[in-house]
Amino acid sequence: MADYSLETSWCPVEGSFGRLTFTLHNLSAEPLSGFSLCYTSETRVADKHVCDGGSLKRQVAHFHEFLPSEELTVPPGGCWRFTVEGLSREPKHVTAGVKSAYLTLADRRHLPVDFGDLMLKGRDGGVSPPLLPPGKADEPYALLPWPLSLGLKAGDLPATLYPAERTRPDAIEAFSQVLSLYQRLYPAEDAAFSLSAVDGGRRVRFVAESSIAAFAYELRFTAHEIVLSSADDAGRRYGLISLAQLLHGARADGERFKFPNFGTIADQPRYDWRGCHLDVSGRFYPVTDVVRLIDILAWNKLNIFHWHLTDDEAWRLEIKAYPELTAVGARLGLDEALAPQYGDGPETRAGYYTQDDVRRIVAHAASLGVEVVPEIDIPGHSAAALSSLPDLVDPQEAEDSYRSPQGYANNALNPAVEFTYEFLGTVFDEMMSLFPGEYFHIGGDEVASGAWLSSPLCQALMKREKLAGPAALQSYFLKRVHGMLSERGRKLAGWNEVSHGGGVDRDGTLLMAWERPDVGIELAQAGYDVVMTPGQAYYLDMAQAEAWSEPGASWAGFTPPERTYCYEAEGESPEALKGKMRGIQACIWSGDIASRAHFNRLVFPRLSAIAEAAWTPADRKDWDRFAVIVRMWPKL
Ligand code: ACM
Repeated sequence: MADYSLETSWCPVEGSFGRLTFTLHNLSAEPLSGFSLCYTSETRVADKHVCDGGSLKRQVAHFHEFLPSEELTVPPGGCWRFTVEGLSREPKHVTAGVKSAYLTLADRRHLPVDFGDLMLKGRDGGVSPPLLPPGKADEPYALLPWPLSLGLKAGDLPATLYPAERTRPDAIEAFSQVLSLYQRLYPAEDAAFSLSAVDGGRRVRFVAESSIAAFAYELRFTAHEIVLSSADDAGRRYGLISLAQLLHGARADGERFKFPNFGTIADQPRYDWRGCHLDVSGRFYPVTDVVRLIDILAWNKLNIFHWHLTDDEAWRLEIKAYPELTAVGARLGLDEALAPQYGDGPETRAGYYTQDDVRRIVAHAASLGVEVVPEIDIPGHSAAALSSLPDLVDPQEAEDSYRSPQGYANNALNPAVEFTYEFLGTVFDEMMSLFPGEYFHIGGDEVASGAWLSSPLCQALMKREKLAGPAALQSYFLKRVHGMLSERGRKLAGWNEVSHGGGVDRDGTLLMAWERPDVGIELAQAGYDVVMTPGQAYYLDMAQAEAWSEPGASWAGFTPPERTYCYEAEGESPEALKGKMRGIQACIWSGDIASRAHFNRLVFPRLSAIAEAAWTPADRKDWDRFAVIVRMWPKL
């Protein structure tokens, strides 16, 4: 327990986003003076605010430092209270408050401060309803995502499954990959498969069947063997994962779930893009966590891992030509160029992926049929890159001339600085050897409306190229980036704002509709390929119920698992646009997800809900069936 404790509460105020009250208790035996209070918080103080009892000394996005209003000594057992009115958004949940806190003394020593959830004053916080019903499965098979078609008769649980053709190395390898996946996900369970024949086991024979669609598979259960037919490795892998799921369900809950004796499953995915995004900038996840998440994606038959590697908070990808990007841009701390954010204490927190780490992760994903789509978020969300490489900045541009939606000053790469393109070319060149996939995601989201207007270089560029404002400048920049990717044989993926100001060449460009679902239809109409990632259904950092006590963010509302599951992202999109709708994707914005417990609570079961919506036709989705099966599915 620390010697100091911070309590924070919020109360509504008519006509504003309410008032925060901070109470710092001195639990030590010594008087406290000559200090400031530093904290990070999801709820940010707005530029225009009124503070009673203190003053804001410094703020960088979610990092705040407050001073007592006058020379204050807090006696042992006493407290310092101050209030702030003027917030960037109204807090809606317990987790919207302080995520880390400490005192900084005049000699730069730091003292730890305990803190708790954000308390609600003057309103009933309510209680969440259960998020997952007991559920009910009409068919006794633990398959998730549910297959396209199935006609089975339940039988006895085999001891194990083993490959019929032990001389075929590809058959053994396919078996062994899914066997190890299962062992990693369920280390306390018996192995799902065996590589050699076992008494009481059932043998699985592979058939290459070119009439079956890509990624599809068929399973035929007979008395003496199981025949798994597919046209490709991916289909075979999905068939093996289905077998492992069937075994797992029958072992874990034998009352409810069985292994089939006879019949067939004929299955194929609804969409070819079944994605999950992870923001590793706001919060760094070690390689082992990333690998486990990819395992979980594979188990849920998701096939895209969208790896959000850079943002304002940090640049997490080693680029050998620019070691500053990670030496400066992946270090957050009070004594670093980048201020602490999202739960960071005063000590430096650093973390990035070496190129060897990336190769390992990409190879692991590929072995499970998951493509890694790397994201370098430009031109906005680039505070970490700009702090690392000052040559990216127009030296004449006024400091703090605009703020991003998250409160970062001047955080966009400058389209009129020629070094910007040299820098990006080098970054893309290094990424080429790391990421073999078709798409590079370049962000394109949330450039502040006033960006670049006080950069003389941008003013000159706008005049020369007859560009009307920031949106046109962004389009100029992204067209050049699009060309750089095309030269390198890669397609551009981005967030929906890539289309602003004229956008980029539609051919092969894939945009993610995150702001609102109808944006996806507009993008498809404009000729882009579209992946639906609406915050209102697929942002897994959003809270799952309205109650104050429910953890999670709130800017896109709250999303119970049932809503995520039932949501049909294409909505009423016209038939003619269906070919443009490539798929759907979960997004995990991790900055505010302070612990593994919160990660698991927020991400699961909604990730599996999205996986089923991505694979299973709408008319075969069944919330009650999903609810029983998903309880047995792995978490991080
Ligand atoms: C986003 O949520 N800024 C894509």
